[in-house]
Amino acid sequence: MKTITQILTEKVSDAFEKCGYDRALGAVFVSDRMDLCQFQCNGSFAAAKQYKKAPFIIAEEIKNVLSDDPDFEKVEVAKPGFINMTMTDEYLVKLLAETADDAHIGIPQVGCGDTIVMDYGGPNVAKPLHIGHLRSAIIGESLKRLARECGYNVVSDVHLGDWGLQIGLVIAELEERNPEWDCFKEDFKDGKVPELTADMLNEIYPFASKKSKENEEFKAKAHKFTADLQNGRPGYIAVWKEILRVSINDLKGNYEKLGVDFDYWYGESDADKYIDELVSILTDKGLLYKSEGAMVVDVAEESDKAPMPPVIIKKSDNSSIYATTDLATIIQRNRDFAPKKIWYVVDKRQDLHFTQVFRCARKAELVPADTELELLGFGTMNGSDGKPYKTRDGGVMKLSDLIETVTNAAAEKLRTSEFVSAEDHSEIAKRVGIAAVKFGDLINHRSKDYIFDIDKFLSFEGKTGTYLLYTVSRINSILKKTNTENSDAKPAKLYTDAERELILAILLTGDVFRHAIDEKAPNYVCENAYKLAVIFSKFYHDNHILGETDEAKKKDWLALISFTRKLILKHLEILAIEPVENM
Ligand code: ARG
Repeated sequence: MKTITQILTEKVSDAFEKCGYDRALGAVFVSDRMDLCQFQCNGSFAAAKQYKKAPFIIAEEIKNVLSDDPDFEKVEVAKPGFINMTMTDEYLVKLLAETADDAHIGIPQVGCGDTIVMDYGGPNVAKPLHIGHLRSAIIGESLKRLARECGYNVVSDVHLGDWGLQIGLVIAELEERNPEWDCFKEDFKDGKVPELTADMLNEIYPFASKKSKENEEFKAKAHKFTADLQNGRPGYIAVWKEILRVSINDLKGNYEKLGVDFDYWYGESDADKYIDELVSILTDKGLLYKSEGAMVVDVAEESDKAPMPPVIIKKSDNSSIYATTDLATIIQRNRDFAPKKIWYVVDKRQDLHFTQVFRCARKAELVPADTELELLGFGTMNGSDGKPYKTRDGGVMKLSDLIETVTNAAAEKLRTSEFVSAEDHSEIAKRVGIAAVKFGDLINHRSKDYIFDIDKFLSFEGKTGTYLLYTVSRINSILKKTNTENSDAKPAKLYTDAERELILAILLTGDVFRHAIDEKAPNYVCENAYKLAVIFSKFYHDNHILGETDEAKKKDWLALISFTRKLILKHLEILAIEPVENM
């Protein structure tokens, strides 16, 4: 269904047309002074210029037309020509019922079934999943859900880092420790590789990475192993497969805890089969040339203010780099999914890399000209010192440790709650903890850095996941007490100011979703969930639902809070935050 401002824009545009003016002047906005009016149109000012008339006169003409429409409670002209509008309560109640009946509960279907490939998560095989990948997973998951709710067909791909130097490092180190393994023999064709474990990988990668920084010989060896792997040496491929098996298992477990999932578990290695094609396209178009032993493509543009190095496609040892696999992956995605958009949810510090990749993809026409390629860059999660978040001993915190830390903090917080039974305690603590972390992240515009502050995130007050879960649990208990948990009744009438405010906030939600998807920014969903919760609390405080003796009124109020719950739950679902029944 249309959003409320779209519906009102149509009404006001009709009025402009009826008075002989351009329809496009009728855009309606929500008012920022709800005490004066609910909606506004400022079209008279542009009309005044276009038709050489005073804005006030035009606004008066529009007002006269709108005043015949019974849906308007009040239309006023404020000097020098603002049109201020307030709708009747009956009209608001009617729209609320339409929203409740709408298959998408008022979420505008702007996607029209277009396909988006979303690239998020981006963990690196053989390295433990750490905080740096947390934001990508959290933001990506919620953007995927938001886009789906708005009618897009979203294909999600984790795009594993499974083909780069980190694998060469791990295999080289395994070889130093176990030179006798068959897979390291020159003539290995196929056969078994000893089983590895996640703990082994967690230990071996940091060890090998450190060693390569101190030992030039080992570093050169790791590079050679990487190139040999990419050139298909059977023994290395066999170990690599074992590393992949262990890593993916571990990653899946971690993502599951976060409620994050992917349609495809492709990795950089899956792009390998498209690299020859990439090279021939680049060659045919005359874009590829040799520079210092490597094969590169120029992507600089005249208007560039900062240096824009050429993008390296093949290094002198014929190995591929990050950009190569990203370009080859674009060929694969275009072929398999023909997407209208490809969105990359990646740390914004990779901006240069993506600018190079997108420019090269355009020059090589790897996707149709109207396919959007966009980096949705995100900022850093910092510690209280304002620097990227570290563990107490200065290391990078593993995601699994983080989940444990927040779960413990939430458990402590809920220890005294009379609503949490002993048997549910640990599950509720886990949900509350994860909700706190996710909401604490998503409430910030994705491009911003933010400070990780678990005490603040777990607070029952303010813009927190905890407050939202708590609000839902309060509504649950009212509905339970009145036996109306499963009712989908709709309010027939509106009685009080707080109620009107709540209904308006509900009706404006469609516009918020529209804005959030246009901006690709889940923080607007967070803000709106919080707004609904606050207005609900005010409504609940001002109107004593349980003690209300007027049965019709009580029924309408219960119907209203029931729909409010449904809508807040929809926000939480989009944010991939699991609610709790009580807390
Ligand atoms: N694995 C990369 C990293 O850890 C992120 C991958 C992002 N996606 C991409 N298509 N490059 O930095």
